[in-house]
This record gives sequence, structure tokens and C-alpha cells, in this order.
Amino acid sequence: MKIIMLGAPGAGKGTQAKMIAGKYNIPHISTGDIFRANIKEKTELGLEAKKYMDQGLLVPDELTVKILLDRVAKDDCANGYVLDGFPRTIPQAEVLDEAVSKLNDNIDYAVNVDVKDENIVRRMSGRRACLKCGATYHVEHIPPKKEGICDVCGSELVLRDDDKPETVEKRLKVYHDQTQPLIDYYNKKGILKEVDGSQDMKDVFNAIVTILGE
Ligand code: AP5
Ligand code: MG
Repeated sequence: MKIIMLGAPGAGKGTQAKMIAGKYNIPHISTGDIFRANIKEKTELGLEAKKYMDQGLLVPDELTVKILLDRVAKDDCANGYVLDGFPRTIPQAEVLDEAVSKLNDNIDYAVNVDVKDENIVRRMSGRRACLKCGATYHVEHIPPKKEGICDVCGSELVLRDDDKPETVEKRLKVYHDQTQPLIDYYNKKGILKEVDGSQDMKDVFNAIVTILGE
């Protein structure tokens, strides 16, 4: 099963994508996590991506597309994957379509996790992320067992540089300008599914499972 998660920054794409990956036993691929891992390791790609991410801007398609295509070509993607944060522009979606159709395959679902902008800023300021393993928490909704420490790998949790309120507003604007048009793009292809992302995360997940099947 090949699934794309759509939704504004902070809508809960990553939270839901991890649960989907667990249930359906497919890899969770987040371009944001890949960039953050590269930033942490100070790779050339990471240093380049950071320039854009810290400003709330998209990393240029030339850099992003190659990383994603390399990743989905790996063996563990043979039975599908859940993409979180890709595609984010129409050209990215077109490249993905082309790559998938070359394999005589298709994307099964584009799931749009819908949350109003007002709720987003609150979610982001409470988010704490583990830069080592990609786990995310929320200080109120999903706190780690020990404050500031990742339950999964024991690393220190941080507020992402791009989760400051000013940057979140910029990311929301970029989302509306460049990424929201993908809702229409996938609707026209007949694979768009909408879920109300403002519900409790378990209810959001149940709604997704109803769409994807048990
Ligand atoms: P990326 O890492 O993809 O960030 P994003 O889209 O801005 O989304 P977030 O990760 O912030 O939010 P999310 O929807 O995953 O929400 P989460 O589950 O964490 O990208 C970062 C940057 O990288 C981009 O700005 C760009 O620069 C670059 N980039 C990445 N991909 C790119 C691409 N394809 N092209 C170009 N540039 C790219 O949830 C948010 C918080 O809410 C958490 O604290 C969570 O615990 C909590 N939460 C989740 N669900 C619920 C719920 N139902 N109720 C209450 N709280 C909840
Ligand atoms: Mg995410």
C-alpha cells in the first residue's frame, strides 16, 4: 500500500504516519526527518537544507526529489510506504507519479489531515522532538515518561528551531501557497481522503484505518 499524508505543518502527519507504518508494516518516510538527521550530522545536504528550513521555506525541489526517489527505491519499500511531508509542491507530485508509474504501480491514497490554522500554532509550541530517532511528543497531549527525555532512545528532546511562532506562521503561509494545491491535484485523481485532524489522535487514527481497511 502506498500512502501520502497531506496536511498543514503540525496537523499530525508524522504522528499518524508512524501509527500507519506500525499497523500496516510499511516504512514511514519523512523528508523532514531525513533533513533533520542530516542537519544533526552536519552533512552538506543538511547544511544546505537548514538555510531554508530555519526560515520556514521549502527546501528546493532539486534537493528534495532526489532524496525521496533514492529512499523509495530501497528494498523495504517493495510492499509500499507512507510518505509524510512529500510531495509538498505540484512538481514533486508529478515526479513521484512518474516514478511510480514507471513501476506499473500507483499511489493508493492521499490522506489529508485537516486542522484549522488557529490550532496549529498551539500544537507546535508544545511539540518536543527527538532529533536522534524522530519520535515526537507534546508537552500536554503526549508527554514523554520522563520530562525532556525520549521514551524510545533516551536522547534529549528539543523544541525544533522551526517551531518558533514567527516561523510557524511563515510555514503556514508557504503551506497554503505551495502545498494546499495538492488537495485538488489528488482529488482529481480520485484518491483523496479527508480526515478531521482536530480530533483526539486515536480517533484520527481510527478514521484513517476505516479508509485504509483493517
Ligand atoms: P516537516 O518535518 O515535514 O514538517 P511539517 O510539515 O511542517 O510538519 P510537522 O512535522 O511540523 O507536523 P506534522 O504534521 O508531522 O505534525 P506532528 O505529528 O509532529 O518539514 C520541515 C521542513 O523541512 C519544511 O518546513 C521544509 O523546509 C522542509 N521539507 C520537508 N519536506 C519537504 C519537501 N517535500 N519539499 C521541500 N521542503 C521540505 O504533530 C504536531 C504536534 O501536535 C506534536 O507535538 C504532536 O504530538 C501533536 N499532535 C499530533 N496529533 C495530535 C492530535 N490529534 N491532538 C493533539 N495533538 C496532536
Ligand atoms: Mg512531521
